[in-house]
Formats: sequence, structure tokens, C-alpha cells
Amino acid sequence: MKTVIVVGGSKGIGKALVEKLLTHSKVVNISRSESELSHENLTHHNCDITADELPNIENADGLVYCPGSINLKPISRLSIDDFKNDFEINVIGAVKSVQKYLPILKKGTKPAIVLFSTVAAKLGMPYHASVAVSKSGIEGLVKSLGAELAPTIRVNAIAPTVTDTDLASKLLRNDKMIENITDRHPLKKFLAPSEVADMANFLLSESCASISGQIFEMDCGIVSFKL
Ligand SMILES: NC(=O)c1ccc[n+]([C@@H]2O[C@H](COP(=O)([O-])OP(=O)(O)OC[C@H]3O[C@@H](n4cnc5c(N)ncnc54)[C@H](OP(=O)(O)O)[C@@H]3O)[C@@H](O)[C@H]2O)c1
Repeated sequence: MKTVIVVGGSKGIGKALVEKLLTHSKVVNISRSESELSHENLTHHNCDITADELPNIENADGLVYCPGSINLKPISRLSIDDFKNDFEINVIGAVKSVQKYLPILKKGTKPAIVLFSTVAAKLGMPYHASVAVSKSGIEGLVKSLGAELAPTIRVNAIAPTVTDTDLASKLLRNDKMIENITDRHPLKKFLAPSEVADMANFLLSESCASISGQIFEMDCGIVSFKL
């Protein structure tokens, strides 16, 4: 049975992924709060990626880094600390996780890494300057690491549009906002965490053995189509 480390598996997309992974893998979750899920193949480590040392783990075949931010403000109101904090959680946390677990991943079976970007790295939207900077960093990291770690470890990212999680709750706080967000997307929908988790599960799997260095837009059409 494979072992997958999920940083940020207690909530949102990470939690939906952990539920899917537990049907066929062992999962090590790393987050500040414990998952509501309980399973014999699930272990949990309390860790704030911005402040604490990552725990030692003996073996792993996959790594998924989920923590991120949606900090939307006009550039005049984005402080330098906003940019630094967003970079810390989105990029530095991912880099630390990759560096920490690279030695065990290299010894794993068909290992893979999955990171998260956002549609805002490709689609210019007002107020997204800080998150766009950080997630563009993730996209660069995927390209560089994909090359550096080939052929041993595959590295890919998912760039979702709005996904119904705690992180996006401010964007979806009433019926009018939900209607507006739905309407802005050519496919007339936004994402459920389980849809994004399905993609992450696929990217970790051996069905995806030929794919590395790619950013998968799960955009409900918002980046791809102009209707
Ligand atoms: N939701 C969206 O609309 C959306 C859109 C585009 C991109 N994304 C990206 O998709 C990824 C997943 O998003 P999500 O909506 O599932 O996020 P979420 O609901 O906020 O879940 C994030 C997970 O990361 C953990 N986490 C957060 N800060 C942490 C820290 N300092 N140390 C350790 N763990 C931490 C959280 O657990 P604890 O709180 O227990 O620590 C939680 O398990 C993110 O990278 C996000 O930027 C999301």
C-alpha cells in the first residue's frame, strides 16, 4: 500500500483528497488542527508550516501541499507584509515540504508531488496581485522541479477556480454572490472540493505516469473561454 503525505488534509480540498486516498493508501496528514476523519490508515501530525519544524516521516510515495491564501485587495491596500505572508504560506511552505520529504520520496514507489496554483496566475483579475505573485511562483516551481526530479519524481499542480471550501467562504457568503460566481463561469458552475480532489488523486496515481511539469486549469471555462 502506498503512503501519501498531505500537508493540509484537515479541511477543504485536502480533506476531500484524504477521504479518497484512504480507500487505497496510507495517509499522513500535517496541519494545525486534527482532521475530523478517523481511519486506521490515517495518521496526523500537528504542525504550523509557517512556524514549526515538519515532522520526521519514515516513508512516502506521494506529497500534496494544500495550504494557501485568498487575500484580495487593491494594490494600494496590499502591504509588503501581505505579499510576504502570502508567499510564506503558498510557496515557502511548499518548498520546505518538498525539501524535507525529498529523501524519502526518492526511495518511494513511482513517487509524485502535487501542488496548488489558482486560475488567477493565468487570468488577470483585479485585487489578485499578491496571490497571483505567489501562485505564479508555484507554477515556476512545478516546471523547474519537474525537470530536476525527472525521471524519478513527477511534479504537477492544479490551478482551480473558486472551490467551495472554508478558504473561499468569503466569496460565497450569500445567494447573490453564489449566483454571480456561477454566472461568471462559462460552464455555469464553480468547483466542489471532491472534484479537485479527484484530479489530485489522478495526478498521484500511476495512471498519470507520463505526466509531469504540468499545471491543470480546473477553471469551469473562466480562463479558457470568452463567450
Ligand atoms: N478554495 C478556492 O476557491 C481555491 C481557489 C484557487 C486555489 N485554491 C488553492 O487550493 C489549495 C487548497 O485550498 P482550500 O480551499 O482547500 O484551502 P482550506 O480550506 O483553507 O484548507 C487548507 C488546508 O491547509 C491547512 N493549513 C492552512 N494553513 C496551514 C499552516 N500554516 N500550517 C499547516 N497547515 C495549514 C488547513 O488546516 P488547519 O487550518 O487545520 O491548519 C487545511 O487543512 C490552496 O493552495 C489554495 O490556494 C483554492
